[in-house]
Amino acid sequence: MCGIVGCIGNRSVTPIIVESLKRLEYRGYDSAGIATLNGAEIDITKTAGKISDLENILSLTNDACVGIGHTRWATHGIPSSTNAHPHTDCSGSFAVVHNGIIENFQALKDELTSKGHIFSSDTDTEVLAHLCEDCYNGDLEHAVREALLRVEGSYAIAVISDNEPEVIIAARKDSPLIVGLGDGENFLASDIPAIRKYTNKIIYIDDGEIVRLTRDNVTISTLQGVNVEKTVTIADGSIQDAERGGYEHFMLKEIHEQPKALRETMEDRLCELEGSIDFKELRLLEDEIKNIESITIIACGTSYHAGILGKYALEDLLRIPVKVEYSSEFRYNNFLSGKRSLAICISQSGETADTLAAMNEAKSQGYLTLAITNVVGSTITRKADEILLTKSGIEIGVAATKTFTAQILTLYMFGVYVARLKKLIDVETSRNIITSMKAVPGLIESLLDNISNIEKTSSRICEADCCYFIGRGLSYPIALEGALKMKEISYIKAEGFPAGELKHGPLALITADTPVIAIVPKGKTYYKTLGNIKEVKARNAFVIAIANASDDEIVKYVDSVIKIPDVDELFSPMLAAVALQLLAYYAAKYLGAEIDQPRNLAKSVTVE
Ligand code: AGP
Repeated sequence: MCGIVGCIGNRSVTPIIVESLKRLEYRGYDSAGIATLNGAEIDITKTAGKISDLENILSLTNDACVGIGHTRWATHGIPSSTNAHPHTDCSGSFAVVHNGIIENFQALKDELTSKGHIFSSDTDTEVLAHLCEDCYNGDLEHAVREALLRVEGSYAIAVISDNEPEVIIAARKDSPLIVGLGDGENFLASDIPAIRKYTNKIIYIDDGEIVRLTRDNVTISTLQGVNVEKTVTIADGSIQDAERGGYEHFMLKEIHEQPKALRETMEDRLCELEGSIDFKELRLLEDEIKNIESITIIACGTSYHAGILGKYALEDLLRIPVKVEYSSEFRYNNFLSGKRSLAICISQSGETADTLAAMNEAKSQGYLTLAITNVVGSTITRKADEILLTKSGIEIGVAATKTFTAQILTLYMFGVYVARLKKLIDVETSRNIITSMKAVPGLIESLLDNISNIEKTSSRICEADCCYFIGRGLSYPIALEGALKMKEISYIKAEGFPAGELKHGPLALITADTPVIAIVPKGKTYYKTLGNIKEVKARNAFVIAIANASDDEIVKYVDSVIKIPDVDELFSPMLAAVALQLLAYYAAKYLGAEIDQPRNLAKSVTVE
């Protein structure tokens, strides 16, 4: 996690770095800092807290034209001003910002301490500054290179030194880093939106590469010193995408962007008449995909919940075994893939370290790998055999919303695509699915037009210490996701269960007035879930049903109903998900929580 930024130019960089860090704050927000160079010496300001806290103590009149900045999600050492980056060596001549983990930091720290280096923080990063000091022979790039050859772990770093005040050195291994090319100024950052305001000319830095940044020049070489020619990419996406656009929070904006995100994810891919899905990006792999005999879906958090829905849909359409694994657990899975196995790795950010590591593992086990991600140019897009992009636009709120429904849609499209390739469904069946699929954005719009009832219901949940989400079949992963959203942003204890599992233990948690949110759309599991609702009602729970608009019966069995539009059963999870996102949002708002930046979390989890 953590976000890093650097800028070298002819104007004061402090406001640029602050602005860029604000756009990276979703990556971590427990402390922040900035180091600038005005030619003679390094000036460092850092603090525990958010970028706004840093801004309050910064001198914005500082006219230094070289600088680096950092927003932190603590891994080694508590969030404090001492542990905030940038970190320096003993002499204060080298300043380093770092995203990642130096795994052998303790051995290096012991060695450097025995040589007389004095450490002032609890971080792993500080060893990098002292290593640079130790390796410096009059060439900063050489010192960084030598230092990096000694470290194990992951990093995206930027280093400045008062010995060479006209240069920034940066490098990457397993943590994201991009360079932005300006006119008489150059930038580096953890992602494009951070610097999109200043340039759209981007170079993606790859693992094992080191960058030398001056005002007028950028050179890139490998850690071993071999020069590398890189392609300049023109970034799309407007700066407004990363603004709140009149909404109180990014999360609310992103919930409302779902119809657009889904339409864009479908665009040019649905062939309703032919009853087929056109994934142009998969054409070269068609034969391989056609022969797939099993699928493993690998993901974390919300993406994992989309994966469970994918399993249900893919097994139904393809009649082959589909497993879903948490990325962080995948490597402990003992049975190997068959020859014709596909690993679908889902990560909205494309940077989640657990998912990247699991994908590597899957590759080494012989899986064909397909990534589903929302971020063009992210690490996963450059490591997977093939990619399918969700086109949700940038998602800033830590709670995933629009990317979740777009992931479900993409998995469903993939299911229809493969089913047609394998000739498992006829044109009429796939045409019907596609027709229902196309209707979903409009139905979400009508749901979003009537949210006052959801807002009102959320206040009932806020009165409780805990709440439970239940659902069966396609509604089970939505119960998990509803609970994750609720706990993540409102801090109300929330758990999701398969409705049928309640009586096997969780029912003991239900006491009088405990809110139970039952996802009970019309379909195969309706009556069974109704039975489970009666069981919790018999224990005096306060039951809120997420039910179809045409369900006039449900009101007899529950205390409150949130209606979602009628839709083909396969797609009701997408509508229920939107309702539950709003329920969590309003509960969190009612409780005054920091919705876009919940405590202890970060948007991209780039450590394992
Ligand atoms: C969702 O609200 C969470 N912020 C989190 O569970 C997230 O889905 C998870 O960390 C995976 O992220 P990814 O999709 O970027 O890999």
